Amino acid sequence: MLEKINETVRFLKDAGMNNPEAGIILGTGLGGLTAAVKNTIEISYSDIPHFPVSTVDGHAGRLIYGDFAGRKVVAMKGRFHYYEGYNADKLAFPVRVMKYLGIRYLFLSNAAGGVNPLFRVGDIMIITDHINLLPNPLIGPNDERIGPRFPDMSEAYDKTLIGKALRIAEKHGIMVQKGVYLATTGPTFETPSEYRYFRTIGADAVGMSTASEVIIARHMRLPCFAVSIITDLGVEGKIEYTTHEMVQREAEKAEARMTTIMTDLVAEI
Ligand code: HPA
Repeated sequence: MLEKINETVRFLKDAGMNNPEAGIILGTGLGGLTAAVKNTIEISYSDIPHFPVSTVDGHAGRLIYGDFAGRKVVAMKGRFHYYEGYNADKLAFPVRVMKYLGIRYLFLSNAAGGVNPLFRVGDIMIITDHINLLPNPLIGPNDERIGPRFPDMSEAYDKTLIGKALRIAEKHGIMVQKGVYLATTGPTFETPSEYRYFRTIGADAVGMSTASEVIIARHMRLPCFAVSIITDLGVEGKIEYTTHEMVQREAEKAEARMTTIMTDLVAEI
């Protein structure tokens, strides 16, 4: 694995992607933040050695390097999900490549269903913790050069970054929620009983991503910050027929607010 990572890192450095300070992984309908990245170098996943290729609508599949909020960043426009059939190595690879390119922080976003009855569609939820119900992406042989066999997860989401994000949101008058993100395999949305179950075990929102990437990042001790955009509700009496297009549409509506928070936060790292 490390040999392949180094090969890919060398390829990306040769292409000019040198010393990014932060990595950004964007969720469904939230790829527009990359429009704020300037002086970009962009490479399709399919042109990057060893990179997986994403298959979902609304996930363009390009690695973007450039200036964002006064810093060099590398952003994944399009991410990889367990439900697409990738094995653990494939899910881990891009996050590890960003780390070995030099990032010191990882920022993530996703679209999610709200199971907290106080949430509304369009809310931004700052993720304070997660419940991972996906197979753990670190299952398999462990390379101690990358990280320990038994990584700590006591602070999966960096408290300092959460504190800064809350202050930034307040300064801009952006209402934010805080909560626990539950990751499930998908690709089905939940039945009403599943939504109720996830609420019962402590979730505020449910989605099909993010936890895998955060586990991979924490294995390498990379501090993480993530937000969910609540695109639909899994709350009794408020559950509606849900489609991917609706999720995309609602995520896009919240994108400008999310970008404001991410921009100021990256500026402060
Ligand atoms: N469930 C799971 N994943 C999701 C949802 C949901 O309700 N909304 C957006 N992603």
